[in-house]
Amino acid sequence: MKKINDANTLTLSKSEMKDYGYRVVDVIVEHFDNQNSKSPVVNASREKMDALFSENIPEKGTEASKVLEFVVDKVLSQSNIPSHPKFYSFVPGPSNYISAMADTLATGFNVFSGVWAASPAAAEIEIVTINWLLKLFKFPNKKGGGLFTSGGSMANLTALVTARRQKCRDDFSNAVIYMSNQTHSSNIKALKTIGFKKEQVRVVPTDLDFKISINKLKKAIAIDKIRGFNPFCIIANAGTTNTGSVDQLDEIAAICKTEDIWFHVDGAYGGAGILSKKGAKLLKGIEKADSLTIDPHKWFFQPYEMGCLLVRNHKWLSSTFSEKPEYLRDVEGNKSEINFYDHGIQLTRRFRALKLYMSIKTFGLSAFKKAITYNIDLTESLEVLLRKSPNWEVVSHATLAVINFRYNPISKKYSEKKLDHFNQEISHRIITSEEALLVTTILQGKVVLRMCLINPRTTIKDVKQTLDKCLSFVEEILIE
Ligand SMILES: Cc1ncc(COP(=O)(O)O)c(C=O)c1O
Repeated sequence: MKKINDANTLTLSKSEMKDYGYRVVDVIVEHFDNQNSKSPVVNASREKMDALFSENIPEKGTEASKVLEFVVDKVLSQSNIPSHPKFYSFVPGPSNYISAMADTLATGFNVFSGVWAASPAAAEIEIVTINWLLKLFKFPNKKGGGLFTSGGSMANLTALVTARRQKCRDDFSNAVIYMSNQTHSSNIKALKTIGFKKEQVRVVPTDLDFKISINKLKKAIAIDKIRGFNPFCIIANAGTTNTGSVDQLDEIAAICKTEDIWFHVDGAYGGAGILSKKGAKLLKGIEKADSLTIDPHKWFFQPYEMGCLLVRNHKWLSSTFSEKPEYLRDVEGNKSEINFYDHGIQLTRRFRALKLYMSIKTFGLSAFKKAITYNIDLTESLEVLLRKSPNWEVVSHATLAVINFRYNPISKKYSEKKLDHFNQEISHRIITSEEALLVTTILQGKVVLRMCLINPRTTIKDVKQTLDKCLSFVEEILIE
């Protein structure tokens, strides 16, 4: 490949672009084809990365092919693989090729997805895909609305700004909000971001199933009302990150209705469970939410970044976020033509809807349903396997493809401290070996291993291999 000569206009010739592009596609295809045989984890120190990449800003360019080669060799190889079958922890990112290519198209055309006039088709595709999701979650189709965001954190932030605006208008000094001790930290972050004090957040305890205690929630609301606070929002979980637990959505919806409280549901990872029969049963009541966060870059198999907020009434979004600066007066358009910058925080937005649109059109919703059902069944099979084993204790049962367990052999009576040590060490060693990504969490004060099996490419054989490897580490720990 020739050196880029026309640096003045930052352009490549047609043949250079083709050559470069085909190489990029080859690299991506190769990755999709053989990622299962790579290691899902990379361990590298700051020193190692500094040694590889640290340099002054280059004044002069380098041959395009050399930069690409360097990036493929050194950058892309030094990242975890969230789509790997043995990437079990956090919330994996089991992406798909069609959506990766859709993102490439959206970036290639640099589609501006903030204003109808900038791309009527992009806005319409976002309307269409949001309508598909509204229907899936049984939200009002005509009145309902939503938008795609960078992820679940931004969707939660957008929801909480909307809830505050609709319920408190401009004065939120005595407003209080309720969530369980299992609610994702992005909600607390969002509240901090928009100026809520710690004293305005009520973190309600959970029951043995890690669901919010309804009695304690009701009591907290009653006490706050007596003290003159304004209970304005409850955040319910539709799949907690720790255990996959779903709060009592129907009961919380009823409380919200009686008390005139905003009902936000964080279904960032778990919401997609609605596409399976078992998940739909668990998520009953989700359709009553005022706002719902889902995260297509989790269990809808989309590449990063793609979150989504759905609301029962699209006017709540425009009345919260709409601003009319003079320099945008020419693109305001008419009411039926949505300017998505009016529905959320971002003005300049990438064309995120395209990847969800193209992947659903290509594979069909039935493929998504099948994959999600498979994930839930796989986790249940793992639970059966663990319960039969004399070595493992199930700490939280398989729910929405999440399970927590720990090494706790029935033949021995180890102290809790020793068990915590074993399980922490198992996780540490499996990650250090780069065999699998399996991290711990804390449940009821115990260190446990957590698997989130939302990758349709993960098999029971993969999981068995990892469990065997974990037990081989126990042998090592016992000898030391
Ligand atoms: C329940 C829940 N809410 C919100 C988030 C934050 O989403 P994101 O990482 O896409 O910002 C997560 C991420 O794991 C989550 O599990």
